[in-house]
Amino acid sequence: MKKAFITGIGGQDGSYLAEHLITLGYEVHGIVRRNSVSEQQQTRIDHLTNKVKVYYGDLLDQSGLERLLREIQPDEIYNLAAQSHVRVSYDIPQFTVQTNAVGVLNILEAYRSACPSAKFYQASSSEMFGSAVDEDGFQRETTPMRPVSPYGCSKVFGFNIVRNYRHAYKLHASNGLLINREPPRRGSNFVTNKVVKTAVQIKLGLADKLELGNLDAYRDWGHSKDYVRAMHLILQQDEPNDWVVATGETRSVRDMCKYVFGKLELNYEDYVIQNQKFLRPEELPYLKGDSTKIRTELGWSPEYTFEMMMDEMIESWMYYFSGSIK
Ligand code: GDD
Repeated sequence: MKKAFITGIGGQDGSYLAEHLITLGYEVHGIVRRNSVSEQQQTRIDHLTNKVKVYYGDLLDQSGLERLLREIQPDEIYNLAAQSHVRVSYDIPQFTVQTNAVGVLNILEAYRSACPSAKFYQASSSEMFGSAVDEDGFQRETTPMRPVSPYGCSKVFGFNIVRNYRHAYKLHASNGLLINREPPRRGSNFVTNKVVKTAVQIKLGLADKLELGNLDAYRDWGHSKDYVRAMHLILQQDEPNDWVVATGETRSVRDMCKYVFGKLELNYEDYVIQNQKFLRPEELPYLKGDSTKIRTELGWSPEYTFEMMMDEMIESWMYYFSGSIK
């Protein structure tokens, strides 16, 4: 039985990845950060209580990481833990950089020392591309990195230190450059789930407006379930590498609002207003990932369309608020 160690197992991708690995017969271990409200520690993995082993841990606590890795001796390590909110990275830039940059170095050091023959996956991000787009309108493995947020800058360090450790210490350490992943388990302060949750509340008479920031940003939105399959596939290769994982389609926040409100038979223009507080000091305007490399070399492709994913989110919030799917 293969053993996997997941940092950020209580997050959106971590919980889907844990489910996927359990299905494949893995013994799954993971760490969650200690939170003062005990019920919030691992709500996304409550249903896996008897199937995963969960420990308190933190990317800033290298000795704790090393001790766990030495004890568990995982075959695969998935580093998904991060301060993952881009706008919030402007509020807490130093914590973001400590966790997302120095934290990667910490776990690499623990891995190198405790279980160097394991395979390592780093959750790199398309936010690292920042303002850079290739002439054909896509971002891919060779696109320059010009990050436009403390979050993006911190992820560039994580990406580079993984490549450095791969070459310097001959570690099987890979980067997945993942574009936005948006399942119902997404935190509702990320834009897709915020839009769907509030639109459903408006439909049910529980809210009367939706306050957003920039409606003209474009994102390539895919489903986390498709993306965790890619993470696992990346670690099944003989050689470590870097891979962009994306749907290859892009839509604006406005297009997404139009679709979601339309599905609920509402006109988004009657409810959506802009609030300055949700704007970012500098914004990544446009994302469209070219995942040709992982599609052709590893045979990965997404199963969810944008519409399937948004419909699933609408159903999920409808069920949550009204107890029925309408
Ligand atoms: N969160 C949020 N809230 N975003 C808003 C809002 C709002 O009220 N209004 C407009 N937006 C715009 C943001 O300005 C951004 O252009 C877009 O919606 C998406 O924002 P988020 O959903 O917060 O995601 P993100 O693209 O910044 O970052 C996500 O994707 C990255 C991969 O590219 C996160 O999951 C990152 O962790 C991930 O690395």
